[in-house]
Amino acid sequence: MTDQGFPLEEIDTSRPHPARMYDYYLGGRDNYEVDREAAQRVVDLLPDIIPAARANRNFLHRAVRFLAGSGIEQFIDIGTGIPTSPNTHEIAQSVSPDIRVAYIDNDPIVATHAGARLTGAGNTGFFLGDVRDPASILDHPTIGKLIDFGQPVALMLVAVLHFIKDEENPAGIVAELRDALPAGSHLVLSHATADFHADSMSEVFKIYTKATATLNTRPRDEIVGYFDGFDLLEPGLVQVPLWRPEQPQSAKDVARVGFYGGVARKG
Ligand SMILES: C[S@@+](CC[C@H](N)C(=O)[O-])C[C@H]1O[C@@H](n2cnc3c(N)ncnc32)[C@H](O)[C@@H]1O
Repeated sequence: MTDQGFPLEEIDTSRPHPARMYDYYLGGRDNYEVDREAAQRVVDLLPDIIPAARANRNFLHRAVRFLAGSGIEQFIDIGTGIPTSPNTHEIAQSVSPDIRVAYIDNDPIVATHAGARLTGAGNTGFFLGDVRDPASILDHPTIGKLIDFGQPVALMLVAVLHFIKDEENPAGIVAELRDALPAGSHLVLSHATADFHADSMSEVFKIYTKATATLNTRPRDEIVGYFDGFDLLEPGLVQVPLWRPEQPQSAKDVARVGFYGGVARKG
């Protein structure tokens, strides 16, 4: 059994998991041979994935720090990933210790690590849930315990929607989640794109077809649509290193990053 009461035999070590491949890109050790092999093939085809994954993670950190500093007291982080310190609650609670964070991921491997590294702190919870079923997330008892929908919420969909296929209606999923949030809430979203690496992507897609979720990159225009009805904060939806950077970013380094990210507010 995992910390979350999930049977260990449900953890599939025969196929690469996107969460464990991402852990490999970030230099983590919570991955298996099957993940390392697939992830290294992606790195060989697309070396830019390593700086891009780091840039995505740093975007998450800056967005959380900004929102915690703006007075948001509760976060719903869907597609949490394998814990990689600092995690959302560590950043948010370093700004304001009473901030509450609900983490959700559909990968049991994340659940195996969540107990010690995500829910060990007060005011945080983790549960296995699937973003493709927003109602089951919104109605979950852990959400009921941690999140007050009468107060602004930060909803985080960071590097998760590119694992949702077009036919699974990502725009409809995000709309349902946006609609549940009260005024003053924020959406933090990042998404992989092939806009800067069109040539190398077809082989990368093939590697992910063998994984537990496929990779569905999208162009900027489509990703902007996920913020419908919310006001994108400056600088808008940009390659993640360009979202409120703390240090100057070189054009050469930014050019390598195939993730867009943005933060938007519900008026
Ligand atoms: C690339 S990681 C991103 C982790 C973290 N949000 C970040 O950006 O650093 C994507 C995560 O989304 C999770 N995921 C993929 N499909 C999902 C789904 N349908 N529902 C919930 N989580 C999902 C994966 O298991 C993985 O942990």
